[in-house]
Amino acid sequence: MQLTPTNVEFIFDYIEDLCGIALDDTKGYLIEARLGPLVKQLAFKSPMELIEKAKQPSGEAIRKALVEAMTTRETFFFRDSSPFEALQFKALPEMLDGKLKENKRKLRVWSAAASTGQEACSIGIVICEMIPDMHNWDIQILATDISEDALAKARTGIYTKMEMERGLPKQYVSKYFSPVSGGFKITDSIHRLIRFQQLNLLAPFQFPNLFDIIFCRNVAIYFEKKVKIDLFRRMLNLMPLNGTLFVGASESLFDCGTEFRPMQHCKSTFYQPNLLTLPPGTINTTSPTLMRPLTSAPPSQAPSTSFSLRPVK
Ligand SMILES: C[S@@+](CC[C@H](N)C(=O)[O-])C[C@H]1O[C@@H](n2cnc3c(N)ncnc32)[C@H](O)[C@@H]1O
Repeated sequence: MQLTPTNVEFIFDYIEDLCGIALDDTKGYLIEARLGPLVKQLAFKSPMELIEKAKQPSGEAIRKALVEAMTTRETFFFRDSSPFEALQFKALPEMLDGKLKENKRKLRVWSAAASTGQEACSIGIVICEMIPDMHNWDIQILATDISEDALAKARTGIYTKMEMERGLPKQYVSKYFSPVSGGFKITDSIHRLIRFQQLNLLAPFQFPNLFDIIFCRNVAIYFEKKVKIDLFRRMLNLMPLNGTLFVGASESLFDCGTEFRPMQHCKSTFYQPNLLTLPPGTINTTSPTLMRPLTSAPPSQAPSTSFSLRPVK
């Protein structure tokens, strides 16, 4: 596959517009490795022809295939373990205390870039461990991803033996999974907490509720710094004052400004809105909820994308 540097730049620019994945010269091999098979499969003559077709209004199916080819969906249960320990033993207990004091038994969680669902299941297990009377609570975990293929697998709730052996503590296997053909299925009491939704994090998003907990792990690492900062700021607008944001082990929000307050638990850092940086009038002093109405969230600076975004149901 002979491509000029201009061709490579053209392809990289389009992939970044489509899903935020920022590629540079060192990633040129990805054109061969990931686009090559797609070019062949869709019977195009070159990656350039594929990109040209993807750009056309009728290129929705090609855009989808391109996203599927370029995204890395690596994930596993309780990835890096320490964020889930911080969730279980610090963030969640403090949050539940506050909610019980206010008699508000409602918990909203977002696993953004959920891939095949192991992250959402791990969060569900932690919640189950920490809230024995879950039936008295209104709990929802929204699991979103740009990849329809990943979400299709996540929706089944079924994981192979090999996937089960990656990160899932042994004591949870029989407690939260049952053997089915092809592997193990997450128990209904957790599966029914999770709603799956295709969503491109680059596109503006709006939800009917705030999220107490957001996991946005191992995706912003692929984005340009300004896209990453914009994304986390938009997420901040969706959190109550005591909301918590978990990012990937190799990601940090130190370069995102002072709006994010780092919190430590053992080896894990998670983030909360920094009250000192919020404009006067945004804090409800009787409740740890931001007074800012959801609809007044500042418009996104994210680049627009032609990838379709279905509205949240
Ligand atoms: C490496 S996986 C991380 C999965 C999980 N959060 C974890 O930490 O194990 C990255 C996921 O981000 C998704 N992704 C990539 N670009 C995205 C975008 N622009 N919007 C939403 N999801 C995206 C990919 O499809 C993939 O499933």
